[in-house]
Amino acid sequence: MSKKFEQIYNQSLTNPEEFWREISEDIFWFKKPTKILNKSNPPFYKWFEDGSTNTCYNALDFHIDNGLGEKTALIYDSPITGNKAKFNYNELRSKVSKFAGALKNQGLQKGDRAIIYMPMVPEAVIAMLACGRIGVIHSVVFGGFASNELASRIDDSKAKILITSSCGFEPGRTVEYRPLVDGALKLAKHKVDKIIFLQRKGHEIKLNPPHEISWDEALSNAKETNCVEMNSNDYAYILYTSGTTGVPKGIVRDIGGHIVALKWTMKNIYNIDQGDVWWSASDIGWIVGHSYIVYAPLFKGCTTVLFEGKPVGTPDAGAFWKIISDYNVKSLFTAPTAFRAIKKEDPEGKFFSKYNLSKFESLFLAGERADPDTIKWAENLLKVPVIDHWWQTETSWAISSNCTGIEMMKTKYGSACKAVPGYDVKIIKSDQSLAKPNEMGDIVVKLPLPPGTFPTLWNADKRYKENYMSNYAGYYQTYDAGHIDEDGYIWIMSRTDDIINVAGHRLSTGAIEEVLSEHQSVAECAVLGISDKLKGQLPIGLVVLKAGVEKDNETISKECIKMVRDKIGPVAAFKVAIVIKRLPKTRSGKILRGTIRKIADNVQYKLPPTIDDPAILDEIKEDLIKNNILKSV
Ligand code: COA
Ligand code: AMP
Repeated sequence: MSKKFEQIYNQSLTNPEEFWREISEDIFWFKKPTKILNKSNPPFYKWFEDGSTNTCYNALDFHIDNGLGEKTALIYDSPITGNKAKFNYNELRSKVSKFAGALKNQGLQKGDRAIIYMPMVPEAVIAMLACGRIGVIHSVVFGGFASNELASRIDDSKAKILITSSCGFEPGRTVEYRPLVDGALKLAKHKVDKIIFLQRKGHEIKLNPPHEISWDEALSNAKETNCVEMNSNDYAYILYTSGTTGVPKGIVRDIGGHIVALKWTMKNIYNIDQGDVWWSASDIGWIVGHSYIVYAPLFKGCTTVLFEGKPVGTPDAGAFWKIISDYNVKSLFTAPTAFRAIKKEDPEGKFFSKYNLSKFESLFLAGERADPDTIKWAENLLKVPVIDHWWQTETSWAISSNCTGIEMMKTKYGSACKAVPGYDVKIIKSDQSLAKPNEMGDIVVKLPLPPGTFPTLWNADKRYKENYMSNYAGYYQTYDAGHIDEDGYIWIMSRTDDIINVAGHRLSTGAIEEVLSEHQSVAECAVLGISDKLKGQLPIGLVVLKAGVEKDNETISKECIKMVRDKIGPVAAFKVAIVIKRLPKTRSGKILRGTIRKIADNVQYKLPPTIDDPAILDEIKEDLIKNNILKSV
C-alpha cells in the first residue's frame, strides 16, 4: 500500500469518529455536531446526530457567502434539442429559492415527500435543490420507468406532489409523460395533491386545473425562500432501487453525513477542486446522477455539466468529446457501457481526433463491471488514467476506488482498486469464515458504515436489518461477490441476488418475472441476465404455458415483451421471451437459473446433482439456438 493513502485509510478505520469529525469541519452547519457517531442501536448508526444543516445551503448559499456567486455552477447541454444554458451560483440559487417558494405555496412542508419524474433538464436539478431548501424529501424516478414503477414509488413514499414534464426526448422518439403519469395515478392507491408539469417548448400539453398546474404558473406568485434548518439525521431524499424481490427498496439518505462524505470525495477520490469543471454522464434518476451530477460537485463549489444526450446518436460518437472540449471538462464519470457504445460506432476514434481535450485528466467508470478491453481502449484513445470504481445506491459514494486526489495507484485491469477510506471491506466464504487473499466469497463491509451511506430503508427498518445486516453479524452485505487480492485490490465478479445490470441500469429479474407471471397464458417463468457485448447484460425470459393454451407462441412472446415495457419501462430492454416446454428444476422445485444462464452464455457448467431431469437442459439449449441466443456448435 502506498504511504499517504495507507495512513489516511488506516486512520479512517482506527478512529472513524475523529476522522469524520475533522472532515465535517469543511461543511456549513447551522449547529455544529458534538456527537459524531451514535453506535448505541446497531445496525442503526447515526452520524452527527445533534448537528443541524441544510443540503441546499451547502450546495449554493455557502459558496455565494464565500464570494463564488458569479462562478458557473451548472452547464446544461442538450444535443437532442439543441438547447444550452449556463447558470452561475447566484442565478441557480435565485431559481431554486423561487421554486422552493412555489412548493411552499402548494402546501409542502418540512418532511413531506415530492416525486420528481423528469428528463435531464435544469428544472429537475432546481426541483431537487428546492426540496432540500425547505426540508421536503424528494424521490426522483428515472424517466425510463413506466407507470407501474412510478405508482409503486408514489404509494410507498406517499408523496404530496408530483413534479413532471410534458415530455422527454430519446433519440428518434418523444417520450410523452402524460399517459405514463395518468397510468401511474390510476394504479396508485395513494393520491397526490398536486402535479406540476414543466411545459417543454413546442410540446405543451393541456392541463386540468386546479389539480394540475404548469411550472410557470407555480412560479407566478412564488417568493424567494430561505433554507430551513434541518437535523443532520433528517432525510434529504429517498431513491428507490431494485431489490431482491419485485418490491423496490426506498434507500434513504440522511442530510449531514451525505454532505460531509460527498464533499470529501470530490477532492480525495476524483481530485476535483473548486476551479474545475466536472461531468457525470448519467441520469438524475440514478444514484450516480444524484451524487455526481447534482450534490457532490455543488457541495464542492465546482462546475457540473448536465447532459441531455447519449454517447452515440446525438448526433454521433463524438458527443462526449465535444462536451469535454467545449467546457474544458477535467474529469468524466460514466458507465462502461457508454464507452462500449462509442467503441462500437467509432473503434478507431475518428471523432475523437476532431476535438481538443487538453484539459481532460481522468475518466471514472462505475455502475457495472468494466471489462479490461474497454478500459484499455479508452486509455489508448484518451491517454489519461481510466479508473474503475465500485459503488451502490445504498452507499451513494464509492466503496472502492483509486483515490486519485490522495495518491494515484497502479491499475489492475478488471479490479475496482482498493477500499476507500471509511470502508472496511472483507470477503466472507460460504462457511462464514473470512477469506484469505484471492479466495472468493460474499463481499461485506464491517459496520458501522461511513457517513453518507443509507441509515435505513424508507419506513422499513425491519427489511433493512433483515436484508442487509443479518446474514453476517456486524457486516453490511453488499450482495456482490468477488475477492480481494494480496495487494488489497477488490475484484467484483457477480451479484449474489437476482439483480442484473443492463447498460449500467440496475434491474431485478424477480420484478420482470412478476410481470410475466401476470400473463394469463403463463404458468411459470424464469428471467435471467445473459452477457451482452454492449450493455453488459440483457434480460431474457423463458416462459412455460398453462395447459390448453391455444394462442401461438409468437403472439404470447410479443405480449410478454409489451407487458414488461408497459409495466416496468423501456429501460428494462426486455426484447426476448421464449416459450419453452419445461423449466429445469432441482428435486425440491427450485428453478436452475444459474445453469440456464451458463448455457445461454455458452460457458462450461456442471450438471447440478439435484436436477430432477437433465434432459430439460438439452431442450433449453435447442430453444436458445432456435432463438439466436446461442450459436449452434
Ligand atoms: N426516458 C425514457 N426512456 C428512456 C430513458 C429515459 N430517460 N432512458 C432510456 N430510455 C429508453 C431508451 O429510449 C430505450 O428505448 P427503446 O427500447 O425504445 O430503444 C430503452 O430505454 C433502453 O435504453 P438504454 O439502455 O439507454 O439503451 P439505448 O440502446 O437507448 O442506449 C447506451 C445504449 C449504451 C447508449 C445507453 O444505455 C447509455 O448511454 N448508457 C450510459 C450509461 C448510463 O447512463 N448509466 C446510468 C448509470 S451510471
Ligand atoms: P447501483 O445501485 O445502481 O449503483 O448498482 C450497484 C451495483 O452495480 C453493484 O452492487 C454492482 O453489482 C454493480 N457495480 C457498480 N459498480 C461496479 C464496478 N465498478 N464493477 C463491478 N460492478 C459494479
